[in-house]
Amino acid sequence: MTINNRRYKQSHILWEKANSLLLNGVSTFSKSPLYITLGACPIFAERAKGAYFWDCDGNRYIDYPLALGPIILGYAYDEVDSAVKRQMSRGFLYSLSNRLELELSEILCDIIPSAEKVKILKTGSEAMSAAVRVARAYTGREIVAVCGYHGWHDWTITRTVRDAGIPAALKKLIFEFKYNDLNSLERIFSQNKGKVAAVILEPVGMYAPKDNFLSKIAKLARKNQALLIFDEVITGFRLSLGGAQSYFSVMPDLSVFGKAMANGYPISVLVGKKEIMNAVENKVFISSTFGGDLLSITASIKTIEILRKRKVNDYILALGQRLKNGLNEAIARYKIDAKCEGLPHKTFLVFKDMRGVSGKMIETLFRQECLLNGVFLGYGHFVSFSHTKKDVDYTIGIASQVFSIIRQALDRGDLPSLLQGKLAVDVFKRY
Ligand SMILES: Cc1ncc(COP(=O)(O)O)c(C=O)c1O
Repeated sequence: MTINNRRYKQSHILWEKANSLLLNGVSTFSKSPLYITLGACPIFAERAKGAYFWDCDGNRYIDYPLALGPIILGYAYDEVDSAVKRQMSRGFLYSLSNRLELELSEILCDIIPSAEKVKILKTGSEAMSAAVRVARAYTGREIVAVCGYHGWHDWTITRTVRDAGIPAALKKLIFEFKYNDLNSLERIFSQNKGKVAAVILEPVGMYAPKDNFLSKIAKLARKNQALLIFDEVITGFRLSLGGAQSYFSVMPDLSVFGKAMANGYPISVLVGKKEIMNAVENKVFISSTFGGDLLSITASIKTIEILRKRKVNDYILALGQRLKNGLNEAIARYKIDAKCEGLPHKTFLVFKDMRGVSGKMIETLFRQECLLNGVFLGYGHFVSFSHTKKDVDYTIGIASQVFSIIRQALDRGDLPSLLQGKLAVDVFKRY
């Protein structure tokens, strides 16, 4: 047994069990150790508070994936959890609707520029599917032009290599364009004249929009009578309270929010213009038993109240920028061919091949060493309201030490020998 296997002993015992009990060994793909570095990473978390979590072996980490984005205030945030507990004692899922559904919808229509009518659901995937259905119903068209990840449902996963079980006919209804490449969208319109129901994208992914890309895309969609759908599952409540549409002043027709809107309680929403929502109201069926779950709705109302009152967006954007700057300075100091990309609401480390060593291998070693020092950076980095400058500066310090280890290993030519786990693989590849 290697040193790391000792550090992650309980995780590995549970991982064996998970593989015999869970499809893929995990409920959430991105939490699989295969995508981190199996053998040199924790696999099971036991508890979390503020900016930290503890794995099942008792190791503590400063956490940056933040449950893949939902945790915006911090784990086990007392004010939110107390409000949820109060609601719990009154029951939280009734046989009728409840006034809190209206209260949350009013708040959302107040803070999200394009929101005039709301559908409350549970997951981002579900709400994105609802958005696509509304767009098809409204336009009477079937083709969608899409860019980026939008959850696991048939209409979108058909574009990936994990497309088994999805009717082949759906493949013909989806066309992919490239972010910041208007021509790639123009081509889809010209090849499918009068057939495109919607243009769907995350307003910001790894890169910022260039050259007014978002306004241009909005104009192009309008010109072709297609709806513009913003997937704000990540940008929502982080980039600004009203999402990227508010940050960049570009109005989509429909948009979807989820993840951070309730500090981890499961909820998503489809919001859109009244004219569109009213036109399809009697034609589409979108309904969920758990849509009116008042624990998540209460959590969302309380979370948004805190986000507004304490100017949380300003705080997390400033801290995210500090992390990005610090990582990029350390990268430059040790001359690593890597870059911390992204707007400060979510940043990403991108490693390139160096001296015959793959970027993936360098990234795997980076993760291994950061984890050994209690820093869980993951693939995308968020910060929460509970992260402090001290946490971020500690992280930058550890990352610097690791970049120095990488530099020396590259110079010696023995980097692969330092890996104690398996090479990280991508969650999935698109065609
Ligand atoms: C941009 C984006 N859209 C949609 C989804 C799907 O959300 P969920 O996992 O809640 O279904 C995700 C999840 O990571 C996402 O990042």
